[in-house]
Amino acid sequence: MIIERHEDVTPAVLAVMEQTTDPRLREIMTSLVSHLHAFVREVGLTEEEFQSAAAILNEMGQATTDTHNEMVLMAGSLGVSPLVCLLNNGDNGATETQQNLLGPFWRMHSPPVDNGGSIVRSPTPGPVLFVSARVQDRAGDPVAGAEVDVWHSSPVGLYEHQDAEQAAMNLRGKLVTDDAGRFWFRTVKMAGYPIPTNTVVGRLLRAQHRHPFRPAHLHVLIFKEGYKTLVSQVYSPDDPHIDTDVQFGVTRALIGDFQRHDEPHPADAGVQTPWYSLDYTFTLEPGTARLPRPPIK
Ligand SMILES: [Fe+2]
Repeated sequence: MIIERHEDVTPAVLAVMEQTTDPRLREIMTSLVSHLHAFVREVGLTEEEFQSAAAILNEMGQATTDTHNEMVLMAGSLGVSPLVCLLNNGDNGATETQQNLLGPFWRMHSPPVDNGGSIVRSPTPGPVLFVSARVQDRAGDPVAGAEVDVWHSSPVGLYEHQDAEQAAMNLRGKLVTDDAGRFWFRTVKMAGYPIPTNTVVGRLLRAQHRHPFRPAHLHVLIFKEGYKTLVSQVYSPDDPHIDTDVQFGVTRALIGDFQRHDEPHPADAGVQTPWYSLDYTFTLEPGTARLPRPPIK
């Protein structure tokens, strides 16, 4: 098609989108082109801004490595990943869900840990945290034999792969639920942390006067055949950023009952006070068990 005027461009592009054989790809590309062209018209995008946009996307790709995923950070910073999560879970957004962001730091092959064991693999100063959780189905019956990946930041807010002080796979582990659907382990209380701000996302946050912090949270991934894999985070309500998460991930359902204890631990005199406990129940929805693509190696 020979383009006569700017009004001709959008219909010309939409016409070729119509040739897409895959109906879902056709739907997505047609809508994307419609919204993208409308956006360009609405803001009156200049040539300079368009060139900047291309450079920014290139920079985000180049900034993404085996240990850093700038795309995931940007998707969270724009609220796209939490929106996708909430629209695709809890009966497609109709009911509360415990599904949450995977985040950029899940690693496959976390080391196995027995229930009652510790995921602290190298000296990690900080208050002790005992996590005790139950995995159930929608009827409230226990889900036994579920594989549970847990991972979290240290008490100074660093994941092991970001911190030379921590042993490999520190504060990461894989547990299996018992016949009562329970899993439990010992760790240290995690802290909130700033997302990496040395490239594109950081410049955006500074331009918008936003802080870069995520509130403290425990990541959980629960895998069991016959159920939709639950990717979740449980947030600590005492964190100063609990209601201003830079990634928009905190939902009411995922604010955990982190209890502070100033009395001695009843069973272990070696636990310093204060120590913390977290009890939480995860509910699996029926569906397909599928592991996500690891954002880092
Ligand atoms: Fe995290």
